[in-house]
Amino acid sequence: MALKIKLLKLFTLVAVVIVLHYFVLGIIMIYSYSEGGGLWTTEGTPNQSLSASLGGVRHRVPNTKDIAKGMTAEGNPEPASGNNNEENEEGEAREYPEGGGRLSPPATSSSPMFVLLLSSLARGGSTFMSELLSTIQRSIVYFEPLWYIEKMECIQDPLCATEYLLAAFTCTFKPDFEKWLMGRHGFFSYFNADVRVCLMMKDNKSKNECLNKLSLPEMCRAAPVRIMKVIRGRISWLKDILSDPKINLKIIHLTRDPRGSLNSISKFGPTWPHDPHERCSVMKDDMDAYDKLSPKFPSKLLQVHFEDLCLHPENAIGNIFKFLFGNSSLPTATQRYINLHMNTEVKPNAMGTIKKSKSEFEAWRYKIPERLLSKVEVEPVCLYTIHRMRHTVFGTLERVRNSSIPLILP
Ligand SMILES: *[C@@H]1O[C@H](CO)[C@@H](O)[C@H](O)[C@H]1NC(C)=O
Ligand SMILES: *[C@@H]1O[C@H](CO)[C@@H](O)[C@H](O)[C@H]1NC(C)=O
Ligand SMILES: *[C@@H]1O[C@H](CO)[C@@H](O)[C@H](O)[C@H]1NC(C)=O
Ligand SMILES: *[C@@H]1O[C@H](CO)[C@@H](O)[C@H](O)[C@H]1NC(C)=O
Repeated sequence: MALKIKLLKLFTLVAVVIVLHYFVLGIIMIYSYSEGGGLWTTEGTPNQSLSASLGGVRHRVPNTKDIAKGMTAEGNPEPASGNNNEENEEGEAREYPEGGGRLSPPATSSSPMFVLLLSSLARGGSTFMSELLSTIQRSIVYFEPLWYIEKMECIQDPLCATEYLLAAFTCTFKPDFEKWLMGRHGFFSYFNADVRVCLMMKDNKSKNECLNKLSLPEMCRAAPVRIMKVIRGRISWLKDILSDPKINLKIIHLTRDPRGSLNSISKFGPTWPHDPHERCSVMKDDMDAYDKLSPKFPSKLLQVHFEDLCLHPENAIGNIFKFLFGNSSLPTATQRYINLHMNTEVKPNAMGTIKKSKSEFEAWRYKIPERLLSKVEVEPVCLYTIHRMRHTVFGTLERVRNSSIPLILP
């Protein structure tokens, strides 16, 4: 009996704490959104506790560790199943000057920039990158739009899939896509701050009313920078679009050591396709396409290595902004996001923490089972990609675990 009462008291206390927590969080969020431009946080808010609080409401805001793990909205991004002369020939040099210190023309809603964030494999840091890019003022983010057509024939046909992607970029998508996206809250929460304000509402009625007031085509058309994150698209599909001078498309190809991605993918069980040959072939396809297209369109393609992003975040992100906007200085909101999620793991021993973040990209080395390591390292296509990244092929469990052997070759 006494135990029962104690339990009841405890339960009430927990309930009160939870209610208070959301109340405070609500106030913080309203405050932060009304500031404008702020994404997940704003100056003057208790940033660490805010990001921790978000866990119960939205998905968790990732930190460096999550980046390595490839956090995603629904915890599962997978299905249940330069050369200026050449640019002159393309007639683009005037539009996209390179190396002259001049900026790209600012993107406007009538002349928007399309940013395709393409990762060959899941678990490669693309979710983190989507959040980072969503700090760009007046941008929108389509998170994994190809998920919707994954089971349709369209995805088998590069022309059809490309048209589908372009329709999203140009806000000419069909109503079924709109309905799907607006119903998929985990994905939709990446879209923009207006959407997040609605999704944060606890009460279903207010949430739905809020969402119903939003017009997807209108929000899309108003955005000068339209970002899309895909892991199911291939660079080679976009060959023709790249040579269209009227389309301001920027492709960011995010790569990661396939052993890291596959080790992470394998934890999700057999429903995730994890055949090394299949997975690495897709990566090889993207790497080859990148090598072929990047010299032709230097201002339109950029490769970013996940390892580099972990080791030198400011530098790597600065390069991305230079690629997009011609200037590597970061917007305040972006800088704030980096400070919050990459530099500030609050722990007593600061040095230890920094060291830990910096080694996160190769944490898989100390976890990967021997069987998986050898399976990947005997697969010729995987070896090809590992060599191309100039990473070490370890061969044995002793060597992969031996931290004196560097992953990245000098
Ligand atoms: C709100 O909607 C969600 C999903 O549609 C449902 O699971 C939940 O029970 C609803 N909550 C209330 C209070 O109606
Ligand atoms: C880049 O932006 C910064 C801050 O807005 C500015 O001070 C700097 O002059 C810019 N650099 C170039 C090359 O335009
Ligand atoms: C986070 O909070 C700390 C102290 O609470 C503050 O010094 C720091 O500037 C904050 N960081 C951001 C990005 O707001
Ligand atoms: C780790 O690798 C280094 C360099 O190859 C070697 O000298 C050392 O003996 C290795 N350590 C172990 C425990 O195998």
